[in-house]
Amino acid sequence: MKLRWLGHSAFELTSNNGLNILVDPFIQANPACPLKTNDVNSDVVCITHGHADHFGDVVEIARNNPNLMVISNYEISIYLQRKGVHAIGINYGAFIKIEDVEIRMLEAKHSSTFDFEIETKYAGNPGSFLFTFDDGLKVFHAGDTGLFSDMKFVIGEIYNPDIALLPIGNIFTMDPAEASIAASWINPEFVIPMHYNSFPSIAQDPEKFKQSVTNCKTLIPKVLETLEF
Ligand code: NI
Ligand code: MN
Repeated sequence: MKLRWLGHSAFELTSNNGLNILVDPFIQANPACPLKTNDVNSDVVCITHGHADHFGDVVEIARNNPNLMVISNYEISIYLQRKGVHAIGINYGAFIKIEDVEIRMLEAKHSSTFDFEIETKYAGNPGSFLFTFDDGLKVFHAGDTGLFSDMKFVIGEIYNPDIALLPIGNIFTMDPAEASIAASWINPEFVIPMHYNSFPSIAQDPEKFKQSVTNCKTLIPKVLETLEF
């Protein structure tokens, strides 16, 4: 599996079969991402919740690729289907298998709205995703979330991911101290911080976070760097 960070919470995961999954496709308006929507070549887009920095450019990406499949919560899938996007809605605890990857939606403690220009609208519950690849590798993308105890009892003990992508930015999500507790509860082999330094309000030093994580290895990829697992 290849993992590429596009800045903020946007990650590309490419399976051994070549299935390209883009999580939280915040591209054009993402100050940390140098790409344009034309530069991504996704087969599947997964959306953790409706906020603009996660919903991102999914509609435009789907317009560029009529075969794109979107996985999100039910409410976001309905919205996207009405825009002609091939979207499948799932909910907590459920999974869908696409080629060599099982994609399961799990919990996140956050909020979820569509950020329209003059108003916001309910966009279902916020979620996280667990990706299980056919070789057994498991990647957990936490979405936007605060710390919650099922990170230990459900995500850590039952699903036990190898790699956990955790927000550390504070203000909207866990701060680095909460995220380091999350890392100890989930107890993966690798943790990768996300959702920081894209905006001034979520400025954080990932090296400090790394020092506070003692149970697993912290990887701090550069934007667009590809890591192989
Ligand atoms: Ni959010
Ligand atoms: Mn966010």
